[in-house]
Amino acid sequence: MTALTSALQRLPKVELHCHVEGTMRPSTVVELAGKNGIALPTEDPTQLYRYTSLDTFLEIFWLVQSVLGDRDDWARLAYESVVDGVEHGLAYRETFFTPARHLDVGQDLADIVAGLAEGLAAAEDETGVRVMLIADIDRAYGPGPGLEMVERLVELRRAGAAGTERVLGLGLDSTELGVDPRDFAAAFELAGREGLRRTSHQGEVTPPTTIQAGIDVLGCERIDHGLSLMDDPELTQRFVDERIPLTVCPNSNIRIANAFPRLEEHPYPRMRERGLLATLNTDDPALTDLDLTEEYRSVMEAFGYTWNDMVAIALDGVEASWLDDDDARALRGRITEEGERLGAELTD
Ligand code: HPA
Ligand code: ZN
Repeated sequence: MTALTSALQRLPKVELHCHVEGTMRPSTVVELAGKNGIALPTEDPTQLYRYTSLDTFLEIFWLVQSVLGDRDDWARLAYESVVDGVEHGLAYRETFFTPARHLDVGQDLADIVAGLAEGLAAAEDETGVRVMLIADIDRAYGPGPGLEMVERLVELRRAGAAGTERVLGLGLDSTELGVDPRDFAAAFELAGREGLRRTSHQGEVTPPTTIQAGIDVLGCERIDHGLSLMDDPELTQRFVDERIPLTVCPNSNIRIANAFPRLEEHPYPRMRERGLLATLNTDDPALTDLDLTEEYRSVMEAFGYTWNDMVAIALDGVEASWLDDDDARALRGRITEEGERLGAELTD
């Protein structure tokens, strides 16, 4: 490993767009499939990890998700996701989980949230790294199950159920084509009324009208991906003026959505030059042969960024996060200090 890659690995990083199921180690996929009697088409799941579109990716994502059978499985997944992230300088993450298909087959949201929170707490005790949760609605299941999930989450929060204190917000993911985000307004309205933060995947493979619906109809404070945003200059200006964050996943856009043939063609640098708060994230690292080090390294190389550019990207993650002011200030200080120390080492 070069000194630069090693410095990027050690730079404390924030991640705001990472699906916990998309962090599942291949060995865990195989073990949980065996435990829960799920037939996999191959003994080496990584052979399945090549995609031609978001929807072909989602077929695999759903297969991987299906191996999670009980509370202990969710706890193991959450624990391993943090331990694996810490190896790549993860300092703080707000992670998605998308339980629609588990709820559909009779798992209780209470067990899923309690399991995830238990795994995150164990990893936090061991590593000092905090990870919070965003409950995602799966668009493919439609607005009814989405609203039911939020209603159950609200019920659990009000009852002070185990783990609910880790759930910061509501998100929306899965297939975009043929789905109108406005159909999910009731679920997002309820979440907003209950004090949950809101974000949604928009514009990964759809036009900027869906991004606008995300902020104006669903009340989102952030947009996940938002890849098509700059096709609408007026909306782009609003995102710049209001510092509405985008959680961008450049390598995922190449490997999952096949949006561009090469990373060099991704609009990430143009987004940042335009003044957008465009953060850097991995999306589904274990399903795309990625990690935070490689995300930072490849972006730095593809776009000719300097060390200070990469520190600025890490700091933007803090601004876009839902940390409270004190925690955000502390993390900003840590990234700045480590960034300066590691940068000085590189120029020695
Ligand atoms: N887009 C939509 N849904 C998803 C993704 C994504 O990139 N990853 C996991 N679920
Ligand atoms: Zn995503």
